[in-house]
Order: sequence, then structure tokens, then C-alpha cells
Amino acid sequence: MYRTRVFIFSAPILSLREIRVSIIERTVSGIAILQIDSPPVNAFGGAVRAALARGLAAACAAPDINAIVLCGTTLFSAGADITEFSGDKVRLKPMLWDLFTLLEASPKPVVAAVDGLALGGGTECILATDYRIATPSARFGLPEVKLGILPGAGGTQRLPRLIGPQAAIDLMTRGHTIDAQQALALGMIDAIAEDLLSEAIARAKAIAATGNRPTAALRRTDKVSGFDRAYFAEQRSKAVAKARGLAAPAAIVDCVEAACTLPPREGLRFERSLLDALRANPQHMALTTLFQAERAAAKVPHLVATPAPVSRVAVIGAGTMGVGIAMAFANAGVDVVLSEVDTAAVQRGLSTIGQNYENAVSRKAIDRDAADAARARIEPAVGLEALGPVDLVVEAIPEEMALKQQLFATLDRVTPQHTILGTNTSSLDIDEIAKTTSRPGKVVGVHFFAPANVMKLLENVRGSLTDDTTIATVMALGKRLGKVSVLAGNCDGFIGNRMLHYYSCSAEFMVEHGIAPTRIDAVAEAFGMPMGPLALRDLVGLDVTVLVRKQRMARQPLGTRTPLVVEALHAAGRLGMKSGKGFYRYEGRRRLPDPDVTTILEEHVRRNGFARLALTDQQILDRLLLPLVNEGAKELADGTAIREGDIDVVWSSGYGFPRHEGGPMYWGRRVGLERVKAMADELGQCFGANWMPASNLDGLLKSH
Ligand code: 3HC
Repeated sequence: MYRTRVFIFSAPILSLREIRVSIIERTVSGIAILQIDSPPVNAFGGAVRAALARGLAAACAAPDINAIVLCGTTLFSAGADITEFSGDKVRLKPMLWDLFTLLEASPKPVVAAVDGLALGGGTECILATDYRIATPSARFGLPEVKLGILPGAGGTQRLPRLIGPQAAIDLMTRGHTIDAQQALALGMIDAIAEDLLSEAIARAKAIAATGNRPTAALRRTDKVSGFDRAYFAEQRSKAVAKARGLAAPAAIVDCVEAACTLPPREGLRFERSLLDALRANPQHMALTTLFQAERAAAKVPHLVATPAPVSRVAVIGAGTMGVGIAMAFANAGVDVVLSEVDTAAVQRGLSTIGQNYENAVSRKAIDRDAADAARARIEPAVGLEALGPVDLVVEAIPEEMALKQQLFATLDRVTPQHTILGTNTSSLDIDEIAKTTSRPGKVVGVHFFAPANVMKLLENVRGSLTDDTTIATVMALGKRLGKVSVLAGNCDGFIGNRMLHYYSCSAEFMVEHGIAPTRIDAVAEAFGMPMGPLALRDLVGLDVTVLVRKQRMARQPLGTRTPLVVEALHAAGRLGMKSGKGFYRYEGRRRLPDPDVTTILEEHVRRNGFARLALTDQQILDRLLLPLVNEGAKELADGTAIREGDIDVVWSSGYGFPRHEGGPMYWGRRVGLERVKAMADELGQCFGANWMPASNLDGLLKSH
């Protein structure tokens, strides 16, 4: 559905019916207003591009029109239509870059009036106009890099000419948004106005009246001279270092260099060639698929319930998780009561929160007023009786079933009947917790990832009795908290941690077979994981692994082999990062190889008589990742995960799986599910039935 409206003010009636452009008002002389109105986000799909081109041509042809104002609705535009990227849609002409060339070449001045968001092609569009004006709340950004491409509709050539190469590289390689004040300071826009349309019309009239058109961005040279090869070489190596394997940032730097060194036409050609190369790179499709998977994940099939209102939340437990969860709510404008067993504990939590906000302010991650306002939303409470009327409780106490059951029984007594009782457990049985309450329909898993105020994932877990309103409420919460929500079924570890078990154990088995921990971590990190599986064990704490494993071993089928390298290190007094010693030795957060680890592990291998394996880096990577895919398939088979994309979203947003690989299931399909099956066969023979191939792998193989 699209509309491009043209408001013609005191202009002759144009014959525009065939392009679905309507003439709405005729009050101001000589100005045509082209309004993009194509819900939900005014994306530049083929129909919108075509209508805009026709609207532009019609306005240019109308003798009584002197200038054009181009605007959106509550947002300007989210850029190119991402649904066109998958290739099965016919791409209608004009292409985006041609449309913007037309805009820049317009014989009549064009003023862009931006309210809401201008992203990607939306921002590129305004760069091709004569003058840019925005409301104070407008935001701008070029997030193409997050889709593995670059602003390829002239953006890499026009932006540096307007704001200089440094700011342009920063904006385009990070893909973040900036507000109108920042855009004005950079020179990306020319003015800010509360009364957007009136100001835009006035400016358009003034430009038309004087005939004094500002120099088009592509013809500006003042901001792009004086940068040598060495400058770009440095920018490129910085971009590559930060990119963790993503190709687009280096290409963006190349394009900015072209903007500074080549004539505009050649620069545009160069930009197109790099855009085409990035579009052919599998990273682009992986990232685009993930973008769509994130939006799909929030939608639960057949769920029609309306989310219940949540205005006040209680967080129980002011440890690392509780503090992060409280901040996540407060940052989203929700009042929070943070409860602990005694005053000292709650004060410790509050002081951590205070410190976290101070750090965020000094890092400029949040401004002072916003930090103070968020902090003021968090109110301390001692015990449970003082929670008051809350709509949702999120429990973040230690992972012990008996403790959780006791807590939920009390919460059931002290909170109003409508209150949803959420547990932040990362693996425990939601039904076992729910049965201690009189409202199992309102008990749900709300699994945040540490640090909860930063990490983007909210893994919600449906118990067998959780009702639809509760599910709808916690799923809606993700968006409100700026996170992505995924719904998981109730099982040991849910979607993410259930798979993590196989990834981590596979790493530990390799250690038992003589592969150095440093090598395994290096392979995982070279693939793009933020931290290798053994370094991750150190971060979480080896004592935690030992405890969890003891409980898990009791539930394993007979004949399952358990790797015991963590236990060997733990027995030698190594608890991981918190004790300065684990798989590594630590100086602060710096991890260093430790010869003592080699000695302990060699002794463990010798004592158990494990055979030594000689593995290539590729084989190490396969042993880490293929079991992840196998377990993901099992989750699909038993309903723990609704869609393959949900698993990919969990792993990319919660575990740092490189986004440009699309998530483990997407990666698995790319490398071949046959390989997943072969690896599962091999590992199943060695380690037991749990590692055997998922029964649905053949079906999945046929389904694409
Ligand atoms: N094209 C097509 N559909 C888009 C879209 C786009 N550019 N951006 C968002 N949508 C769709 C979403 O898929 C979603 O569809 P659904 O309702 O069917 O699930 C709907 O619009 C609403 O999106 P969100 O759920 O994400 O809504 P939010 O309000 O949370 O966020 C947004 C809105 C900030 C615009 C966010 O959607 C976003 O960041 N979009 C991507 C913007 C982007 O990356 N633009 C660059 C495109 S590439 C480009 O322009 C190439 C050019 O340089 C050559």
C-alpha cells in the first residue's frame, strides 16, 4: 500500500490521477509539496520511487510551480525497501540512485522537510535536495552497514562533501542515528524548525524568489580536500579492526576516499561497483534475513491476546542480573521497585546502579538528565511485603529451585492477583516454579542476558499453563525495553543455553583430546564470536559450571560421556576470572596463557587415557558449530523454538554469534545440513545418544 501525495498550493490542477497522486490543498502560491505516505515506514519500494519520480516531473512541468517541498508523514523514510533485497521481487525503475540524481538535477529548487526518522535511503534522499530542514525530534542515520552494504544511492559521495570524511566514516561505519541538533552541527541539515512545513515552504519560496540555489552536495569541495592516502589507510585499518569480519566498513572507507579524490561521476560509479560487490557477498543476505527474523520473532503464531498494561515492576534480587534488569526497565521509563533481603544488600545494588549510570554518562552513552531521571525511577525495598501494587515481578535470585519455589509462593501471597510473576531463570523448569502459586497462568520465564541493561535479547519462556495475555505482555515488553523478544518452550536451558551446552562441551571434549584451550578460543574468535567457549567458562565461573553439571549429570541418559576438564581445573582451586585463574591466568580482565593449565590438563588427559586428536582449525570450528545446529534442529522438532529464525535471533542477540553469519541455523544451512548430520553421527558414537543427529534434519534439508 502506498500513496505519494502532492499538495499543490495555488497551482493549476495537474493530471496526476493515473499515478495516484492527489491534490489536497491550494493555499500557498507556487509551491508543490510531495509527501511520501507509504506505511508502515515510507520505504522506497518500486511503487514509491516511481510515484515520486512522476510527482517530481509533474511539479517541474507545472508552470505555476516555483519550488518543491519534499516531506514524509510521522517519519520521513526508513530507506530502501528491504523486502526487495531478497531478489524475488521485480525492481521497478527508477532505481534509488537514479531517483536521487533526478532530484539533485531538478530545475526547480527542492527543500526536504524531515519529521521523525530519515534512515538509509531516507537520509540519502535529503542529501540530494537543495536545503534540509527538520523538526527538533527528527533523527538521521545510515544503517546500511548493519545489512552488510553501504549507502549506495549516492550517500557515500554526498555525505563526506557535506560533513567531511571523518564524520561521514563514523556515521556510515557505525550505522547509528543522530538527532537533529547533531545533524545541524555537522552540516548535514541546514535548519531546525518546530513548524516544519511552514518553514520549509517559506525557505522554498525564498530560494525560488532569489534564484540563489545552494551548491549541490556533489559539487561541494570545501570539506573533502587535504586528505592523503595515509589518512585513509589509517581509517581503513581502524574500520577493519572493529568490523570483526564484516566486509562493509572497509568498503565504506574506500568510497569516502573516492569522494575525496575522484570527480563526482566517477565517485558515484565507484560507489555502485562496491555496492554491487557487497550485495553479492553472502554477509548481506545473512544480515537481511536476520533483520527480518528479528521482526518475525516478536510475532507468536495464533496469539491474539492483548498485552496487559505494565506501569510498575518489581525486581527481586539486586545482584548483577537484578541491577541490570532494573536499569533496563528504568531506561524505558517504567517505575521499578528493587527488592533485597536487607538494607545493606539493596544499598549495594543501588550504589552499583549509581556507578553504572555515572560510567554511562562519562562514556556519553546517556545524557545526565536522562540518567538522573532513570535512576530516580528505581525505588529500593527491603523484603517482599513492601513491593506495593506492581504489574510484573521479575525474580533474579540464585539458580536454586527450592529458593525460587519459596519465593514464588510468597510472591503469590503478597502481590495483587493480576500481577505477572516472571522468573529470570536461565534453565530451570517454569512449571515446577509455577506450581507453588495459585496463578500458574501468570507465571512465565523472562530470561535477560547479562548485562541486562545492554544485551538486546529477551528470551521469554512459556510454561505449560502460562496464559496468552501473559505471553502477549512479556513479548510486547521486549520492544518497550528496546530489545528483541523470542518465545521459547520450557525445557532445560530453553533455546539458548540448551544449545550452549553442546558448544561448550564440544570445546571441552577437544581439550580432553589434547587441543589447547587457547587454540579453540582463537578459532571461535576468528569466526567472530566475541569470546571463545573456554574464556566464556572463565567469565561465568568454573564453580558455576561444576554445580550446574552435577545437577545435569543426574538427568543424562546412560552412556553419555561428560567432559571433566572444568572439574580438573576447579579441583586445582581455579574458579575462573573471579579468582584470576581458570583456563587462563588473568591480570585484571586481561587473559594470558598459563603453563600451569597445560600441566593440569595434560595430567587429566594422561590419567584418563584419552587419545590425542590432530584437528585443523576448520575441524575445530566444525566441532564447535555443527552440534549447535543439530541441537537447534531438535528444538524445532520438539517445539522449544517456533522458527529457525528465532534460534538465530537468540544466538546473535544473546550469545554474540556474528550477525553477518546470520545465526547458527542460517550458517548451518549455508555450510550444509549433511555436514551437521555427519558430525552428529561421529560425535554421537563417541559421546552418547544426546549428540546423535536430530530426527528432523532430513526434513529440514528438503524444506528449502
Ligand atoms: N524496508 C521495508 N520494510 C521495513 C523497512 C525497510 N527499510 N524498515 C522497517 N520495515 C518494516 C519492518 O519489517 C516491520 O514490518 P512488519 O510490521 O511486517 O514486521 C515494519 O516496517 C515496522 O518496523 P519495526 O518493527 O522495526 O518498527 P520500529 O518502529 O521498531 O522501527 C525502524 C522502525 C527504525 C525504521 C526500523 O524498522 C529499522 O531500523 N528499519 C531498517 C532501516 C534501514 O536499515 N534502512 C536502510 C535500508 S538500506 C538502504 O536504504 C539502501 C540504500 O542505501 C541503497
